[in-house]
Amino acid sequence: MISLLQALTALTGRGHPSQQFTGVDLHCHVLPGLDDGPATEAESLALCRALVADGVHTVVATPHQLGKMEQRYSALDIRQAVTYLRTRLQLANIPLEVLPGAEVRIHEGLPGLIHEDEVLTLADRGRWVLIELPRLSYIEPLPLIRQLKDAGIRSIIAHPERHVCVQTHPHVIRGWIEAGACIQVTATSLLDRLEEEAYRCAWRMVAEVGAVLIASDAHDADRRRPRLSEAFRAVALRMGERVARRVCIDHPADVLAGQALRPVFETPARREASR
Ligand SMILES: [Fe+2]
Repeated sequence: MISLLQALTALTGRGHPSQQFTGVDLHCHVLPGLDDGPATEAESLALCRALVADGVHTVVATPHQLGKMEQRYSALDIRQAVTYLRTRLQLANIPLEVLPGAEVRIHEGLPGLIHEDEVLTLADRGRWVLIELPRLSYIEPLPLIRQLKDAGIRSIIAHPERHVCVQTHPHVIRGWIEAGACIQVTATSLLDRLEEEAYRCAWRMVAEVGAVLIASDAHDADRRRPRLSEAFRAVALRMGERVARRVCIDHPADVLAGQALRPVFETPARREASR
């Protein structure tokens, strides 16, 4: 005889997922000594081990570029740091693929800086760029999203659920999505109620916005550790495993492949049309 919970799970698709999370993390401060991520190589390797334990097989290293970091690190510096970390991972037998990328503070000259190879796109593919808005003020990203799209580059807005202006005016996101952008929600925002507004805003985005993906934005193996497995389970429990797969696994994989996000209700013809 099936339990009430099992019956409810069968009806709604909500419940404990049938599989563990395994996938890509598109936003992680994993490179040692570059920004506010790990200070040392040992700390970086500890974070890499935590990523693997969390189910991540591929991570895009996204140190800050522009903004407060004042572009201290060029695209070339980041590529070289990734190459070095790969050699350390091999020596330490840590099965994690690391690719170059950046979390780029919003900047009107971004299309030109990408074209000049000063600023990195995600996985260095020239298709998606991860854009960070300033924390304490609001700069409307819509003109930049459109400019970048005209140049063949799609925007991902990093953790907008943490911004007060977005929390109070969530409708602004609609314009970004219509212009071809995607929203990156941070796993911790879905799990941690210390920032109640960010928590509520994050869940509303996952429920209402099709173009959402979840990333860790991890900085270390401790206080800001990767929590993608927990987020995957939480989304599956509340919204069903299909939604959890889409936002935690499928959409990050699409970005990694340099493709448009697969539509919510995908058919082969629609997927072809979205490319
Ligand atoms: Fe970040």
